[in-house]
Amino acid sequence: MRNQIQSIAVRNALLNWFQAHARDLPWRKTQDPYGIWLSEVMLQQTQIATVIPYYQRFLRAFPNFKRLAASPFEKVAEQWSGLGYYRRARHLHLTAQRIVREFGGKFPSDYQKARKLPGVGHYTANAVLSIAYNQPLPALDGNVARVMARLYAWKGHLQQSSFRRAAERKLQELIPLENPGAFNQAMMELGQTVCLPRHPVCEACPLSPWCRAHRLKIPERYPAPKPRRPTESVHLAAAIIQKDRKLAFIRGLDEGLMSDLWNFPAAFGKSKGQALKRLQEKLAKATRKVPRLEKTLGTLRHNITFRSIQVTLHRAKLRDYSPRSGIRWFSIKDLDHAPVSQLARKIAKAIILDHHSALSRHNRGAGLPRRDQAVKQR
Ligand code: ADE
Repeated sequence: MRNQIQSIAVRNALLNWFQAHARDLPWRKTQDPYGIWLSEVMLQQTQIATVIPYYQRFLRAFPNFKRLAASPFEKVAEQWSGLGYYRRARHLHLTAQRIVREFGGKFPSDYQKARKLPGVGHYTANAVLSIAYNQPLPALDGNVARVMARLYAWKGHLQQSSFRRAAERKLQELIPLENPGAFNQAMMELGQTVCLPRHPVCEACPLSPWCRAHRLKIPERYPAPKPRRPTESVHLAAAIIQKDRKLAFIRGLDEGLMSDLWNFPAAFGKSKGQALKRLQEKLAKATRKVPRLEKTLGTLRHNITFRSIQVTLHRAKLRDYSPRSGIRWFSIKDLDHAPVSQLARKIAKAIILDHHSALSRHNRGAGLPRRDQAVKQR
């Protein structure tokens, strides 16, 4: 009984606070499950400020499931370009096609059906169903988990399934049958704007009267940090191949990474030498002749999740290409709108930044980058 009364007080304090402080986000202006699903997929791994313009552009290009499903994937990837985690775009497209085919163009309101859609995990299904269809399902994202860990001063970290189970159980007690979507978004909002990871603004928090971590005066200690996977250092040899004013790209990076994105031809290795050898073998397959990899143009570093990649750029000369090489030629200008990886953009920028790049002097036969901030000269 006492618990129940407290749950009601916590819920009301949160909802009142949200009514006064909710940010005016574009996906909060709609009840259309399409727009809500789209926002949830975009927000899975991307910050709100980054998502907003993409969301608005994407909706203009593809206003509903039908239009998205009917579009070629290339066009979808183009709209997604820059948001990262491209598998999301692939899943988005596949899900739209399934929704048109199997559910008459309407996002299913049944949890089990929603969960079977590509890219719709437990969190996304609960978020969409609660916001679009008023189902009292908890949406436990990282921000909400932090609020819960502090509210109850739980030990443990967010990656533990026991932690997530406990948090969902508690959220089930708190979530109202009426407007569960507002409750879920209020919890997210609190985590994003008040219950911050490092400097929580407890003075502004509607839940501070009930918050155990606040009472203990150590909110930052909750939740415990997740054990870190050690960073792995790898080498990547990348080929800069130029023809007229265009550069050669192939789909995917290496080892199955970024399979939907265009990249400079590249290969990983445990050492610089091994990466170069693997790149040579890869290029030899794509061309009729063994490629000549000329000077090392420079190096740069790029981090992807737990990988720290030391990239070495090589200028390569290829005279013949097998029609099945998979090479596609992009000018620098094309890259703005093409589905190329962030790494490829970084490399391209490093090349452009250098005034002596082959792109600007290609008719004069000069070399590629000299020293600049992004490319370290060998
Ligand atoms: N993150 C994921 N979904 C969100 C939403 N609906 N509002 C704010 N942040 C979110």
